Parts: sequence; structure tokens; C-alpha cells
Amino acid sequence: MRRTLAQTVGMTIIHSETEHAPGRFRDRFRIPPGPGGGETIYFCGNSLGLQPLVAVDAVQAELERWGSMAVTGHFDGPMPWVPYHKNATDGLARLTGAKPQEVVAMNTLTTNLHLMLTSFYRPTPERGRIVMEQGAFPSDRHAIESQIRLHGLDPHSQLIEIAPREDRLHHEEDLEHYLEHHGERVALVLWPGVQYATGQAFDLARIARAAHRVDAPVGIDLAHAIGNIELDLHNDEIDFAIWCHYKYINAGPGAVGGAFVHNRHHPFDGPRLAGWWGHEEDSRFKMAPTHRPAKGAEGWQISGPPILSTAPLIASLGLFDEAQMPKLRQASLALTGRLAQGITHELGDEIEIITPLEPHRHGAQLSLKVKAGRSAGRQLFERLIGHGVIGDWREPDIIRMAPTPLYNTFDEVDRFVELAGKLIRA
Ligand SMILES: Cc1ncc(COP(=O)(O)O)c(C=O)c1O
Repeated sequence: MRRTLAQTVGMTIIHSETEHAPGRFRDRFRIPPGPGGGETIYFCGNSLGLQPLVAVDAVQAELERWGSMAVTGHFDGPMPWVPYHKNATDGLARLTGAKPQEVVAMNTLTTNLHLMLTSFYRPTPERGRIVMEQGAFPSDRHAIESQIRLHGLDPHSQLIEIAPREDRLHHEEDLEHYLEHHGERVALVLWPGVQYATGQAFDLARIARAAHRVDAPVGIDLAHAIGNIELDLHNDEIDFAIWCHYKYINAGPGAVGGAFVHNRHHPFDGPRLAGWWGHEEDSRFKMAPTHRPAKGAEGWQISGPPILSTAPLIASLGLFDEAQMPKLRQASLALTGRLAQGITHELGDEIEIITPLEPHRHGAQLSLKVKAGRSAGRQLFERLIGHGVIGDWREPDIIRMAPTPLYNTFDEVDRFVELAGKLIRA
């Protein structure tokens, strides 16, 4: 009798045939071959998402337009290049819980962070601190540190990092506690939507409330959150957010990034780093010397859109519209829940799960620590790769595994758990 794949994770029952089933879009992706000629078990969509077949078509279509239309492609054809980035706007607004004028596809994540800090970090002698999580992704910390120095301030006193607790997790109340006691010194809060090392997801509305109680703007790094968990940036009152599209969005290596600026900041009369693409669209090509910012997030653009790295994004967003984020999230919870169950039951003596397991506190990724220590962890990680299971390693001792619901399946999760058990006990 064929086994009906039904998983009970918490109260969620997922049947393989339903539209909430993980892996429903697997045949729309190219799965890299494994060492024995089969397919890899690819749990690394939190780092670089797999290639959607539509992305290949989209890039080829733009190359063809370039060849056949040359400069006229800027204004003519089915998707002219001048307003090309706008083709991503509605899809990004849906994924981030934003109004369309609040989002824009542009640049890359760290560049967008610098652009946002230029506008939103306005330190005064009394109030110059930026608060972020300790152990943040290094690029964010580099950006913050350099921005503090740019204002002639000292990062040693102005960069405040909220420490995780013994469980290696950050607790929203620790941020709240800091802000309650030192809020009058804080110029800005930067927080992740999902923390890259631990996979922990945060209550963004709560973080925004805590920052706003002390009149500090809040920015969110959504690198690991967009396309992974459901977001509601507008209603959560986030001031700005930045993200990349090469992870869960599957727009390819070096894909164009994204940014959100809340409507209440439009029109924006503070400082910004300007360029001609952020100029009002109607008069941009009049070549006037004065910069008149476009309305909304588009006003932060600097250069014309990078067509070849935006094409895969637009194509990939179509898959998200088809799949629908609430359904994907259900599939993701079931998939990661299955992984958590397998590890806890089969490998609980050997492996600790660092990621919190309550559904609202994680996305697709589980961060695993081998209890025997760093070298045993590293060895397991390398052996898994040798057997075609692709996750990634984050220093000092974390193996990150992120089954993603567009293309990963329950069967892959089960095979991973079985294999990890064999390898760790070998
Ligand atoms: C959480 C986080 N922030 C920032 C970055 C840097 O992104 P980019 O190279 O696109 O600036 C990354 C890259 O993986 C990331 O994971």
C-alpha cells in the first residue's frame, strides 16, 4: 500500500497532495547532481537558493533584447529597462507586507543598509548610539561601525550589542530592558528578522514598539526572513528594512537587493545619498542639475536597475505569487518541524538544536550543534557534503540546515536524519 504522506507537526496536518505540501514546486528548479549521480539534498536555500527554470528564461530574454534591440530596449519592448525594477514592486510588497510605494528593488543589501543609515541615523552629542544584536552578520556590523565613525563618533561607546543568553538566543525583553534604561541615548535600532546563525525569528512589531517608545527609528535586516517567514512591515511600523534576494527568493548569486521605507517617511526631508535614478521619474531625463527625489522608496535609488540581476528576481517572484506565502509558510513549518522531530528523536543524544522550536520563533533553518564539540561537528558537516547533503557551516560550531518548502520534501528530511545518524555513529 502506498504510504500517504501525512505529517502531524503541532496541530498542522500536511498531505503530500495538498497545495500546502513541501516540494510542490520542485520540478520548477534545477537540483544540483550529487556525488553518486543522483540529486543532492540541498538544505542551503538560506545561503543561495536553487535556480528556478524561469530565471534562466528571463535572463535569456533580456540578453536577446539587448542583442536585437540595443539602446531602444530602454523604452520599447514588453518590459522596457528604464522602469524595469517596477516589475518586482508588487511581488515584493506582498512578501514584505508593504504598500507598493514603500519598497524598491535596488543595489545590494549592505549598500542599501548604508543608504538607509545615511538617512535614518542622525546622531546628536547626547544621542548617538546604535543598538544591534551581538553576533550580527559581520557586514551589518561593519556598516554600522563605519557609519558611526563617519559622524566622528567612537564605536566603542556608540555601538551597543545586546548579548544573547546562555541558550545562545536573543530575547526581545533584553532589548526592551536596554531601551527602557538607556533609550534617551539611542539614535537607532537595527535588528534581524531572522538571525543568520541561530535561525531565530523575532517579533518585529514588539521590537518596533520598544524602539518607538524611546523615539528611536528601527531598521530590520531581512536577509534571512524574506521569502522565509510572513512579514507585515507596514503594520508593524518598521521604519526601514533591507534585504537580498539570493537566499530564499532564489534570484541567483549577486542578485539585486531590496529596501523598504515606511510611508510615514514620505516625503522625506532628511539627508540621503542621491543619484539620478532616485530623481522624479517624469523629469529624470530632462537632465536638470537639481535632484528632486521620487516619491516613496524609489527616491533612494542611485543608478539605473541592473537588468541581468533583476530579471531572475522578477521571474522568481512569480513563483511566490503562485505558491502564496501563507501556504509556503505552512509547508515550511511542517518540513522544519519534521526535521526537528527527527533530530530530537533519532539524534538527540548527539545533536543539539539551537534554533527555538516554537513556530513563531523560527523559519526554515535549524542551527545544529554536535554535542561532542567543534571538530566532531565539522567532521559531520564534511561527511554530509561527501554524501550529497548540502547545508553550511558557520563558525565556531554551527551546522545550518534549511529545508525550503518550494523544492525540499519530507523524504529528503527523513533521508538526511537517517544518514546523519549513520555518519555520526560511524
Ligand atoms: C544577515 C545578512 N546581512 C547582510 C549580508 C550581506 O549581504 P550583501 O553581500 O548582499 O551585502 C548577508 C549575506 O549573506 C546576511 O546574511
